[in-house]
Amino acid sequence: MAKIAVLGYGTVGSGVYEVIKRNGAIVNKNAGEEVEIKYVLDLRDFPGDPVEKILVHDYDIILNDEEVSVVVEVMGGVEPAYTFVKNALLRGKSVCTSNKALVAAKGPELIKIARDKNINFFFEASVGGGIPIIRSLNQCLTADDIEEISGILNGTTNYMLTKMADEGWEFEEALKTAQDLGYAERNPEADIDGWDACRKIAILTSLYTGRNTDYEKVYTEGITKISARDIRYAKELGFKIKLIAESQKTDAGLVAMVAPIMLKKSHPLYNVEDVLNAVYVRGNVLGPAMFFGSGAGKLPTASAVVSDVIAAVKNRSNVEVEWSDEDLDLANVGSVKRSFFVRVSGSGDDKLREVRSLFGDVSIVKVPGLEDEFGFITKVMSEDDFDKGYEKLSGAITRIRVDNREEELC
Ligand code: HSE
Repeated sequence: MAKIAVLGYGTVGSGVYEVIKRNGAIVNKNAGEEVEIKYVLDLRDFPGDPVEKILVHDYDIILNDEEVSVVVEVMGGVEPAYTFVKNALLRGKSVCTSNKALVAAKGPELIKIARDKNINFFFEASVGGGIPIIRSLNQCLTADDIEEISGILNGTTNYMLTKMADEGWEFEEALKTAQDLGYAERNPEADIDGWDACRKIAILTSLYTGRNTDYEKVYTEGITKISARDIRYAKELGFKIKLIAESQKTDAGLVAMVAPIMLKKSHPLYNVEDVLNAVYVRGNVLGPAMFFGSGAGKLPTASAVVSDVIAAVKNRSNVEVEWSDEDLDLANVGSVKRSFFVRVSGSGDDKLREVRSLFGDVSIVKVPGLEDEFGFITKVMSEDDFDKGYEKLSGAITRIRVDNREEELC
């Protein structure tokens, strides 16, 4: 019998308990032995809850119990999770975590300790919720030179943007509902400012390059500036605005970024709605592959965590993960070429002349009822060239990137 301990009895922790209880027979069969939760660690008490009998408040009880071979860390945040996880690994206990903040900040160190101790540090649930993207990159897409990964990696913001577009909800209403549904981080700024997606694309980039991607160096914009008016323009154009996390090899080097991007109907990520996540991977011999599914929430995330527990029970020796502590150099986003959508206040020939003098030929878009402003889409240009024009544009309201790489993507 494999005895495990779960650190944290919040949304994901209670999901792990539920999955192991509900799917016990499947879990045990796939693990090759019975999996039993011996302890749940939390600061809180849960009177009347089934975990009451196995609840502990002192981590040392778990650390010092040699029967516990796998520790599940689903507390979130870097500390105290880092100290708990590191100590578990140093004691020879494999660790399975959903904690992207921990993995993005300390991944290479924890992977190395696990390798040295011949145990495992697994983190499938840290990116894409229940979507099996980590194991796919580590163990399946290993014959390719990966050229690009683009994804919708944050369920909260995808849910919000979907509801804002489809139901006309305001930003606050959409956020509140995403929180009530258990999608959002404890501090939802990590979702809406793009940092959650940024950590996730940094993890994926580290895995496919084998070198450490410092998430703090990934250019990151969230969705806080996306307004109902922007969404009306997107609809007029037949586009959708999505928070895209992307990492791609360009002539200038590897570029990683997170930003709201307008997608055309032909884009593989266009139909990814609500809390769903998707990861588009392009390999030099594979071509395109799409991973699509439940990106956040209690049971989907717990499904990935429990799959890691099963892998840890089955693989009593180390499964190699290629992620060294050598830093990956990221190229400046200024070299990336695409079109840009711009909203500008005013109207009339003088304004159009100004726009054309700065950006050359543009396509104009007007939304019925918005007479005091108009929008336009530029031709394909580098971010640097676009910025030079945008800084000089009087009355500029906002700008959103537009993806127009249909031929490359499909
Ligand atoms: N807050 C995250 C999201 C949870 O919305 O995607 C899953 O990582």
